[in-house]
Parts: sequence; structure tokens; C-alpha cells
Amino acid sequence: MGAIGASGADVVLVSSDGPPSAGALCDAVRGADALICHLNDVVDAAVLRAGSPTLRVVANVAVGVDNVDVAAAVSLGITVCNTPGVLDAATADLAIALLLCVARRVVDGVDLIRDDAWGGFSFAGFLGRDLEGMTLGVVGFGRIGRAVASRAMAFQMAVLHHQRHPTGRPGYVADLDELLASCDAVSLHVPLSDATRGMLDARRLALMPRGAIIVNTARGPVVDEAALVDALWSGQLGGAGIDVYDDEPMVSRRLRDAPHVVLTPHIGTATIETRTKMCHLAVSNVIAVLAGGTPPSPVAAPGTHRGDAQ
Ligand code: GLV
Repeated sequence: MGAIGASGADVVLVSSDGPPSAGALCDAVRGADALICHLNDVVDAAVLRAGSPTLRVVANVAVGVDNVDVAAAVSLGITVCNTPGVLDAATADLAIALLLCVARRVVDGVDLIRDDAWGGFSFAGFLGRDLEGMTLGVVGFGRIGRAVASRAMAFQMAVLHHQRHPTGRPGYVADLDELLASCDAVSLHVPLSDATRGMLDARRLALMPRGAIIVNTARGPVVDEAALVDALWSGQLGGAGIDVYDDEPMVSRRLRDAPHVVLTPHIGTATIETRTKMCHLAVSNVIAVLAGGTPPSPVAAPGTHRGDAQ
């Protein structure tokens, strides 16, 4: 946060070890002009009201803003910003890494060796699936979804995509059910909203070809976790690569015990390069709003609207 210090602002670090409590966040924003926060800081109407009328900008250091009550912010005249664009490659890389790990049973193999339980090369052991020739469905075709699609094409996968608004690009499927029925694997790249919560439920998982793979690097609640676990146990799903959860940092026992899952701790953007760019963009957003200008990446200020893909 060097740049913001250099701008002459007083910078107060609210918490250095995990998200602050609701009370601590309210105390911190009282009298502040700007709040820079993470996706696990709950910036609800109470926090925003505590900051009003001085608070002018909330800069989330994430592309998703489901932790911020955007409507309440706008009604209080507070601009909300996020960090799109700078994290596409890192997130797309992780989505493909999860897909590869699931399809090729990489973690099962690693665990076997860690447990010193490998009995030697087995011609019929650890049989996975080739990405080449699979059809990948990308749900949410914003920058991250497109970055996943281009990586998947490099693996010779066929790629279909879906989002609410037609993209006009080859491979667009308007009906999500139809896309799911045609895909061997699906990677999710939609923001969490009322429209996407529980989007992949039991009915939709049952539409997929038996043995299909789900990859979720978006937000946990986009998938009905109980239905996902049932589908893994029944064999309807062949595996799942998951980076995001319903109630982070809790990961349910049922999900941890499910077969063919590769679980990572919300690390989609966790590279030095990407996290550095995210911090710089958040700071640029704050500086622009406080200077009375237009921030580089507003999610909502009076007159802007939210999209349907990350
Ligand atoms: C990460 O999950 C983000 O929203 O940036």
C-alpha cells in the first residue's frame, strides 16, 4: 500500500491476521474516506452506514464483490471498485490445473507416494482421462472464462460457453441445461448473485454425461454442495476440482471425504505477480475517487451496472 501512503493519506491497518469482526470494521470506517478490503471482509449496510458520510469508496481487492452490499453503498453515494483484468491468467491457470489434477488423478498419486504405499508401475492403475477430445463448458464468459477457454483449446479440448447475454462468439450456448448435457467438464466463472446462487443444483448435475468433471474457482455457493457430493458418490460426477466453498474457511467433512475431489484453499489469484497488481489497482481506484476522478475499475457508482461474468 506504499502508493496510498505516498498520496498523503493516513493509512490504518485494521487487521493483519484474518478478517476483522463486524464491530472492528465499523470502528475502522467511521470517519474514513476510503476502505480497502478483501473478499472475506463483510462490508454490509451497517459497515457502510458507519462510514457514511465521509466514506466515498470501497475498493475490494478481488474481482468478486459478493462480500459488499453494493446497493447499500450506491444509495449512500459510495463507489464500489474491484480488481478485474489483472487476475485472469492466474485464475484460469488454477482452473486448468484443477481440471488436470482431477482428470489425471494427480493428487491420488501424490498421496500414494507420500504414504509410501506405491507398489510399482501398474499398466491399468491410476487411469484418468485425456483432456484432448473432451468438451469443456465455460459458464460465465468474461475475461477469466475466456482465458480458461483459450487454455483449454491449447489442450485440444472442444469448448462451449454460456452466459446470460449472448456473446456472439462461436461455441455460445444460450441454454445452460443444453450446455451441461453436452460437456465432459464444466468450469464456473460467474459472480455470486441471486441469479447464480445454487446454479449447479441436483437437477442440473444430473443432466451432465455420467463421469463429468466440475471445476469451481468462482464462488462456493454457485454450486449446491450437498448435490455435488451426492453426485460424486453416485458416480454421476467423475470428479471435482474446487477452490471456493460455501462457508470459508470451513470445508464440510462430506466434501473432504468425497471421491475424486481436489480441494484447494481459495488460491485462484494467489501469485506474487497477480496479488501485487491487484493491490496496485485497488490503490489506484481509491486515489482516483478521492481526487474526484473516475476510478479505473468501478463496479458500481451511480450510473454503472454489474455484468454476469468475471
Ligand atoms: C477471488 O476470488 C476474487 O474474486 O478476486
